[in-house]
Parts: sequence; C-alpha cells; structure tokens
Amino acid sequence: MTTDLKTILVTGGAGYIGSHTVMALQQAGYRVLILDNLVYGHRDLVETALKAELIVGSTLDKALLKDVFNRYDISAVMHFSAYAYVGESVSDPSKYYENNVVGTLSLLDAMVEAGVKTFVFSSTCATYGVPQEMPITETHPQNPINPYGMTKLMVERILSDYDKAYDFKSVRFRYFNAAGAHPNGLLGEDHNPETHLIPLVLQTALGKRESISVFGTDYPTPDGTCVRDYIHVCDLADAHILGLEYLLEGGESAVFNLGNGSGFSVREVIDAAARITGKPIPVVEVERRPGDPPALVGSSDRARSILGWNPQYVDIDTILTHAWAWHQKRHG
Ligand SMILES: NC(=O)c1ccc[n+]([C@@H]2O[C@H](COP(=O)([O-])OP(=O)(O)OC[C@H]3O[C@@H](n4cnc5c(N)ncnc54)[C@H](O)[C@@H]3O)[C@@H](O)[C@H]2O)c1
Repeated sequence: MTTDLKTILVTGGAGYIGSHTVMALQQAGYRVLILDNLVYGHRDLVETALKAELIVGSTLDKALLKDVFNRYDISAVMHFSAYAYVGESVSDPSKYYENNVVGTLSLLDAMVEAGVKTFVFSSTCATYGVPQEMPITETHPQNPINPYGMTKLMVERILSDYDKAYDFKSVRFRYFNAAGAHPNGLLGEDHNPETHLIPLVLQTALGKRESISVFGTDYPTPDGTCVRDYIHVCDLADAHILGLEYLLEGGESAVFNLGNGSGFSVREVIDAAARITGKPIPVVEVERRPGDPPALVGSSDRARSILGWNPQYVDIDTILTHAWAWHQKRHG
C-alpha cells in the first residue's frame, strides 16, 4: 500500500518540548520517528502517549545516522536533542560542545549525504546574552555569556553556512522559557535534575521540596524579582508545525523568537502557583545569582506575521493550571 504521509525525524523526541511536538506532528498527519539517547528522555511517555517509533541512540553515532537515513524516507528533521543545563555547561564545557555542536554537525552531515535539507532547530534566547533592549527582537546582537548559549549560537552559524554551501534550509527557533504541560494530561515537564522555576515551585507545592529559593529581590523590576518570558509548550509545538510547513512549501531559511511577549516576575509566578494549587509555597530569599539579567522578554512579532503563529495559552494562570495537573499526576 502506498501512502503520502511525510516522515519527520525528531531528535530528542522523548524529552519535554520534543514529545509535545511529536504529538502535534502526529495530530497534523505526519509520521514520526524519534531518535533519543534517553539520557534525559522518557521511554514510558513515548510508549504510552505517543506510540511513535523510537530509535534509542545518539546524534554522535554516525553509523546509526547513516543507517536511519538509508532505511527511512525522511522529509525533514526537527532537532531538539541537546544538553541544556547552563551551570553544567560552565563547569564541563567539553560535554556541551561535544553533544550540542559535534552531535549536531554529525546529524547535519548525515542529512546532506542523504539529500535531506529541511531542518528545524531548537535555539535559545540564551544566545542573546545580556539584553541591550527590550523586548528582544531577532536582530538583537548575540553575545552568549555561557557555553550552553555559545553551542547554540555556533549551530546557528553552521546552519547559515550550510545554506550557502549546500542549499540547506532551516528554521531556527529561539525559545524563551518553555512552560506548562499538555492540556490532555498525557505529557508534561519531567527534568531530572530540575532547574526551571515553575516545576520547582510546583514540587514545593507538592511537598517534595521544603521551599523555593528566590535569587535576588532588589532588581530594577516592579517587585524586585527577575522577570522572565514563559511560553506554553503546546504553543511552541504549534510553531514547529508552522515552521516545518513554511520550509516544506519552499520558504527561505529564517530565525524566529518564540516567546509570550509578556514577562512574569518570580514573585508573580509563585503567587499564581499558590492561588492555583491552594497550597502553601514557602519562599527563601537569597542573594542574586551572577549572570542573571533583571528581565528577559522577547518579541515574537516575526513568527506571528511570517508563520501566522498565534499562541493560545499566554496567561500565567493557564500555564500553571496545566503544569499543576501534570505534576500531580506524575509526581503526586
Ligand atoms: N526547556 C526550555 O525552556 C528551553 C529553552 C530554550 C531552548 N531549549 C532547547 O530546546 C531543546 C529541548 O529542550 P527540553 O527542555 O525539551 O530538553 P529535554 O532534556 O527534555 O530534551 C532533550 C532530549 O534530547 C535527548 N538527547 C540529548 N542528547 C542527545 C543525543 N546526543 N542524541 C540523542 N538524544 C539526545 C535527551 O535524552 C532528551 O530526551 C534543547 O535543545 C534545549 O536546548 C529549551
């Protein structure tokens, strides 16, 4: 039987943003193949929620990549796999340059060899470094202040060069803070170790942590705590479908911020979480962390106008309500 379903290879598809995007791809009528080394990904979620084919392996494994591109008729690749702990990237940069840059290069070369030249890449607002103006647009200078951000910037540069040399088309998404969980309750955030504010706050609400630390209360922000841009993971997933289809329809390589456009302070997030969970969330105020800018808020006007992206879950209460339902189910 012949079928015209397009097959999309999703690296890191067993992880947080990747798994939500796999579900969105399946709902949009694509066949999905996941490549994940399961260092941080979750086999159980792939098996129960996604039912996608999972290849357990690394982007660093060139023989495996060659075999995958030989065996499957892949139309495009979405590349989520990376290590993403900023602090660890400072203490162990080798691990980050190896996995995030060398691993990506081996994936790109396998693609070029196989003639697959459509690529959607997970970049980050960390490539901007300390913001010079707000909201941050795609033309803001990129001066990352840690190796993690630098690995992503290096891949962005490699993608520009591959376009010129090999006609290799990519969409590079610079995400702000991914947050929330699928409203259907089947998928959500489960990082271990966890460093993101919202899951840490919810773990505190669940009694898994004694308190939440607030790093700095004397920033030049309305309530003195840091302001960040939280974007719902399902809105991120939708943007990936739009970015993929933009490229499949012949679009030129492009870069897009993906953020909420509104910032929420650490204190606003904690207060909203206390309201939504109905639980006490003890707070410990501590010193600022070096390298934390007071505010990071992105402009996503370009994604809205060029891709027609229209994020649905932009208020913090909805983001927290979905995340709380997931946390109670997964960790309660
Ligand atoms: N979570 C955020 O707020 C955020 C913000 C900006 C950018 N990003 C980027 O988005 C992407 C996804 O982030 P996430 O939060 O879903 O992370 P995640 O850790 O949940 O997912 C990454 C997945 O990649 C897998 N992986 C890592 N190295 C691999 C390799 N060499 N080969 C195969 N699989 C490998 C891991 O096992 C994991 O399942 C990452 O590239 C990250 O840098 C995330």
